[in-house]
Amino acid sequence: MRLVVTGGAGFIGANFVHTVVRQHPDAHLTVLDSMTYAANRASLAGLPADRVEVVEGDCADPVVTDRLVARLTGPQDAVVHFAAESHNDNSLATPWPFVHSNIVGTYAVLEACRSHDVRLHHVSTDEVYGDLQLDDPAKFTPETAYNPSSPYSATKAGADMLVRAWVRSFGVRATLSNCSNNYGPYQHVEKFIPRQITNILTGVRPRLYGSGANVRDWIHVDDHNSAVLAILERGEPGRTYLIGADGECSNLEVMRLICELMGASGAGSDPGFDHVTDRPGHDLRYAIDASATRDELGWQPQHTDLREGLSATIGWYRDNRDWWEPVKAQVEAKYARTEKVL
Ligand code: NAD
Ligand code: DAU
Repeated sequence: MRLVVTGGAGFIGANFVHTVVRQHPDAHLTVLDSMTYAANRASLAGLPADRVEVVEGDCADPVVTDRLVARLTGPQDAVVHFAAESHNDNSLATPWPFVHSNIVGTYAVLEACRSHDVRLHHVSTDEVYGDLQLDDPAKFTPETAYNPSSPYSATKAGADMLVRAWVRSFGVRATLSNCSNNYGPYQHVEKFIPRQITNILTGVRPRLYGSGANVRDWIHVDDHNSAVLAILERGEPGRTYLIGADGECSNLEVMRLICELMGASGAGSDPGFDHVTDRPGHDLRYAIDASATRDELGWQPQHTDLREGLSATIGWYRDNRDWWEPVKAQVEAKYARTEKVL
């Protein structure tokens, strides 16, 4: 099996590469990554060079993408398309790279898969569905109407529409998945969970947007990737699969749990963290109904205890300071330009 993994030096893609190398001794992977600020070559350190090739390039560049996809000629070969600009806060400040990577990039990947009749799995997000009220009994399903809120989620929604059109109009053999919030090792320190962990590790107070009432549906990155592998193996081209692990939790609850697990809960009336300026257009709640994916593919998440998953993740950031420390101060300086303590 040969796979081209776009965005394979980012958080979820790098974890995917490690998983495939471990679980599929016959697999050869080519990582295509433009090495943006979100990539880290160290996330791929120690992998066997004869099985993992890393190509620095833009997936929106039709020449490089076509050249790599053309090499996929076996029946099990596929492109797994993780590459994207992925951070909502950045998309509010500078939307253009999101249009380029998420829409033009997906277009170039689709055209290469169409030219060479190669199977594609497109990795997307639950954010394309917009948000839910806190007391809404319905969760997102594959039938939920698209209603994206931020430039990030709008460009992911646009990419999903391109994939659906290339399936219907050109017969491209593509599957799609929309997953909820991931956490685990190798996640960039700009994101909520690693930001708070590394704040505590560097003596900076954790930062909660607004009241912290917003709810995210957390899933361990290994569970996301096991679902992607199940879709590659047993998914039906043209179908959309939702991935989630019933991990709904408010940001306030997650923050308190991180502080507790790290012995940083504050004292008296001080909770140990600061409430700061809210994100403009902040989605209130995401929640995934993954029952169709579970029933049809026989997939089950394995890491459903958030306390346990967070403890292990905290341990990883404690043990891997070299991985995140070089960019930490720069990320906090960027946040400090707009963030005000409430
Ligand atoms: P990330 O930002 O950590 O990594 C993205 C990677 O893509 C980086 O290595 C970056 O260099 C690369 N990249 C960006 N533009 C590129 C381009 N034009 N060409 C080649 N490479 C490019 O993101 P992530 O959190 O690992 O997310 C991966 C995918 O999963 C994205 O498509 C994202 O929308 C989706 N997703 C993420 C989550 C989550 O919670 N993080 C949840 C659901 C879906
Ligand atoms: O739902 C899937 C999406 O999850 C993915 O598509 C995105 O790529 C991924 O970044 C993530 O989006 P969010 O915007 O939900 O993730 P983020 O880690 O930025 O924030 C999670 C929540 O925490 C959100 O409600 C904002 C809040 N937050 C974030 C940061 C960085 C804080 O309260 N404080 C913070 O410092």
